[in-house]
Amino acid sequence: MRILGIETSCDETAVAVVDVIGPAKRLRVRVLSNVVASQVKLHAQFGGVVPNLAKREHQRNLVPVLLMALEKAGLLDKVKVKEQKVKAQIKNQNILSPIRYTLSAIFEREPDLFARMVPRVTALPAPKVDAVAVTVGPGLAPALWVGVNFARALSYLWAKPLIAVNHLEGHIYTNLLPERIANSGRRTGKTRSIRYTLRAIRFPALALIVSGGHTELVLMRRYGDYRVLGETRDDAAGEAFDKVAKMLGLGFPGGPIISRLAARGNPKAFRFPRPMFSTANFDFSFSGLKTAVLYTLRGRGPLSEQTKRDVAASFERAAVDVLVAKTLSAAKQYRAKTVMIGGGVAANVELRARLTRELRRSLPGVPLLLPDSRLTGDNALMIALAGWFNRKQKVHWEYVRAEANLRLDTPH
Ligand code: KG4
Ligand code: ZN
Repeated sequence: MRILGIETSCDETAVAVVDVIGPAKRLRVRVLSNVVASQVKLHAQFGGVVPNLAKREHQRNLVPVLLMALEKAGLLDKVKVKEQKVKAQIKNQNILSPIRYTLSAIFEREPDLFARMVPRVTALPAPKVDAVAVTVGPGLAPALWVGVNFARALSYLWAKPLIAVNHLEGHIYTNLLPERIANSGRRTGKTRSIRYTLRAIRFPALALIVSGGHTELVLMRRYGDYRVLGETRDDAAGEAFDKVAKMLGLGFPGGPIISRLAARGNPKAFRFPRPMFSTANFDFSFSGLKTAVLYTLRGRGPLSEQTKRDVAASFERAAVDVLVAKTLSAAKQYRAKTVMIGGGVAANVELRARLTRELRRSLPGVPLLLPDSRLTGDNALMIALAGWFNRKQKVHWEYVRAEANLRLDTPH
């Protein structure tokens, strides 16, 4: 089955095409393309993601990103495209064309994307894909809607089934991909034909999701069955990294910068709190830690480079201590047979190393799946893959909606 995935929940515009090949016991994937257009430089000027700017950029980027993903996948016949384009232009002049009418209704709130899509995408013959999968939530509503409406339009135009995907489920499924896969999908016949065997999850599995918007521990009893054991009560882990970076006068996103500085700092230089470290539940809180860093910096004047490194290292140590402790105790309590991590913060070297070491020590024999660090950020490959696991839940495009607060389970 070949799935085209679309992701626009935050500040990355992404489209990917992936083949998932059976049998169910030994699933393999072939990544035909995995294109991500990041808006990070634009949002960095504002110190964070600005939802309406993200919406504007997704409208600008989706058509070129789609065309690039189709081209890399070898699904774009350029001669045909040209012929079709002429035909479509003629057709588009007819204001009553039903296709144009339906598309303009779909893109009622995204007129810019409508203008770009007609005639560039209506001109395309339907590519050889079996379904379109799209992130419907959680995320920024204006950003999500652009991708959702684009996917609805493609589903309608190409007469392909549409699959609604939870973004966090995508982050979890990144763990199934072997580490080296991010390099494939280049435009050489050779890499395109490589099939990778997916890694197996043994259930019950525990996933720690740590991103810019979420921090939660999820128990997975089988594919598609999630129970949120605990989550952050205030800031997400990635958000705390970003805010501390801002306090230190560093750039955005702060996670990778803090992590780099921390590697050369003393994690014991400052004693920051470990909020909710020993509470009996699996919830998190990062705002107290963030405030402690703020108070420490207050009145200090300009910081030396070494002090910045020490603050970064001490903050990172505190955050990782809590994330690792809670993950291990949940893994023990629920007798997890696989532990996984996902989301932007899953790229953090310290978190990966500590989790590896401490899981081996306290739960030997329980495998830890770590996602490829090049795939921990938002991408559409993970959405296409999650789409495959949800392939039976196709929805008619007219009924698909963005849901900014979508959860992996119902409220607990
Ligand atoms: O999953 P993601 O790309 O977007 C959301 O869905 O939120 O996560 C982005 C977050 C940002 O807060 C970023 O600072 C953080 O992931 N991040 C990191 C690292 N790389 C990215 N945090 C800590 N260490 C890193 N190496
Ligand atoms: Zn994400």
